[in-house]
Amino acid sequence: MGDIEVRPYQDADERGWVVCRVLSFLDSAFFDDVRREKERYEHPAIELVAERNGEIVGLIDVECEEEPATICEDRPGLGGMIWHVAVHPDQQRRGIGTALLREAEAIANRRGLARFEAWTRDDPDVQAWYESRGFVRVYSYLHVYVELDEGLRDAFPVTDDGLRPVKLFAHYVGDRPDDMRRRFARVHDDVLYERRLV
Ligand SMILES: CC(C)(COP(=O)(O)OP(=O)(O)OC[C@H]1O[C@@H](n2cnc3c(N)ncnc32)[C@H](O)[C@@H]1OP(=O)(O)O)[C@@H](O)C(=O)NCCC(=O)NCCS
Repeated sequence: MGDIEVRPYQDADERGWVVCRVLSFLDSAFFDDVRREKERYEHPAIELVAERNGEIVGLIDVECEEEPATICEDRPGLGGMIWHVAVHPDQQRRGIGTALLREAEAIANRRGLARFEAWTRDDPDVQAWYESRGFVRVYSYLHVYVELDEGLRDAFPVTDDGLRPVKLFAHYVGDRPDDMRRRFARVHDDVLYERRLV
């Protein structure tokens, strides 16, 4: 960690932020959640980067509630939503993600936040990271990527003006998740984690 600096994000970091995020997510269940610009927020946000030799090697963005349940779930205390946390694949497991999280927590405490929330998918390593950093699983549901040739072709016919739907993305909130896992090739758990800060 000696040569790593955790500091606030600046506009000049945008390209490095985007590149770091894309590379970090390559081996995760979010591999195709590609952003070409840094996300900007409606509410105040904690936006930090980790820099090593002039390169962005880690990032965290937390959007902060000013009123309860305006960004996060309706649970006790003002929340901060971790929209992005990522460490360059060559730099993972060196404490950079933890350093970013700890600095974000210190700032959140000063702002009076009571908790952090984060959504993540079914990457065991990532879930191990959240759990080892004090996050607790709240609930989950399924993200389902459907190729309509997987048995849903008839539900989405060609439109009168010639559009032929090919695929869809769906949230599954029913009570037979194993059926969905058997039926479709790409199904993810989407898990809400929470960490109390005080
Ligand atoms: C999740 C992530 C941010 C963690 O950052 P990091 O800098 O690699 O993690 P740290 O070095 O701070 O923490 C390491 C700890 O996390 C856990 N951990 C991390 N990777 C792990 C793995 N492959 N297997 C088991 N535990 C792991 C362990 O507790 C580990 O501690 P240890 O090394 O003492 O055993 C980073 O791995 C990442 O960017 N992953 C891909 C992007 C992503 O999926 N982001 C989250 C989207 S919601």
